[in-house]
Amino acid sequence: MNSMRIITRAALAVVLGVAFSAGLGGGAVPGTGAVKSAQAGEKKKKHPGKRAYRRMTCIACHGKDGKRAIQDYPYLAGQDKKYLIKQTRDIVTGKRKGGKNAQGKDRASPMRGSLVTPEGKVRISDEQIEQIADYLSGLEPAKPKPAADLKPEDIEAGKKLYKKKRCKTCHGKGGKKPLKGYPYLAGQKAAYLFNQMVDVRDKKRKNGKIKTMYSFVKKLKDDEIKLIADYLSTVDRTK
Ligand code: HEC
Ligand code: HEC
Repeated sequence: MNSMRIITRAALAVVLGVAFSAGLGGGAVPGTGAVKSAQAGEKKKKHPGKRAYRRMTCIACHGKDGKRAIQDYPYLAGQDKKYLIKQTRDIVTGKRKGGKNAQGKDRASPMRGSLVTPEGKVRISDEQIEQIADYLSGLEPAKPKPAADLKPEDIEAGKKLYKKKRCKTCHGKGGKKPLKGYPYLAGQKAAYLFNQMVDVRDKKRKNGKIKTMYSFVKKLKDDEIKLIADYLSTVDRTK
């Protein structure tokens, strides 16, 4: 019995050793969680970014694997890695605020509120931001969930506007092939896309390279923005 236990423990130590040298430790104390995942075997290694995504509560607002965001919050699965890192940083530091949400606060404030203490201390490290972005950018994007009542002629009109306004120059055909470091738009939530385009047009979003987009959207009216947002929400990146 006793020797049995020793063998089991030795075997475990080996498994754990492998897991940690493979970079799965993420600096965590080897607690029961680490033991369990090591026992689950090689087949399902947990990305350190996946753990950080849960621990930093990103999951509460952006949903499982960044595919089930609540309200008008964005999906993150399959987004460009550099873009994810930049935006997370800009939101945390307050460089990206955006227009007002339904509560009359800046759109990014719920996220900042959960990652920055009232005293202004940032609760997420650069390493965690990088790990989470690596994890999210490697996931399949969410399946598009456009509103059920979209009219085919409106989707077509949105597609035409996207072409006419030369959005493709930077975001690629159908928002599927952006320039490096630029965001994918295909399959993103329509309400989120709508808000962002309005914020960009009204110069409420000022961070990063967004200024390069200003001249392309400045003449767009709300109903045209809605057509484009609805169209993009139907484009399936997984195909
Ligand atoms: C309390 C809710 C909440 C939490 C928690 C949260 N976010 Fe967000 N996140 C938001 C909202 C709201 C926005 C949209 C802001 C806007 O409209 O400008 C956003 C936007 C983003 C964006 C920009 C996406 C894009 O397409 O431009 C990234 C990246 C992001 N969040 C990453 C994260 C990560 C990583 C975490 C965890 C470390 C996290 N968020 C936690 C609410 C949240
Ligand atoms: C000259 C390049 C350029 C053109 C043309 C352009 N954009 Fe952008 N767009 C950007 C950049 C760069 C960003 C991200 C800015 C940043 O780094 O914060 C962006 C961001 C966006 C976002 C926000 C995405 C998110 O996840 O938050 C939307 C929506 C968008 N663009 C839609 C459009 C549409 C629709 C058009 C055509 C009317 C267009 N863009 C034309 C460069 C461009």
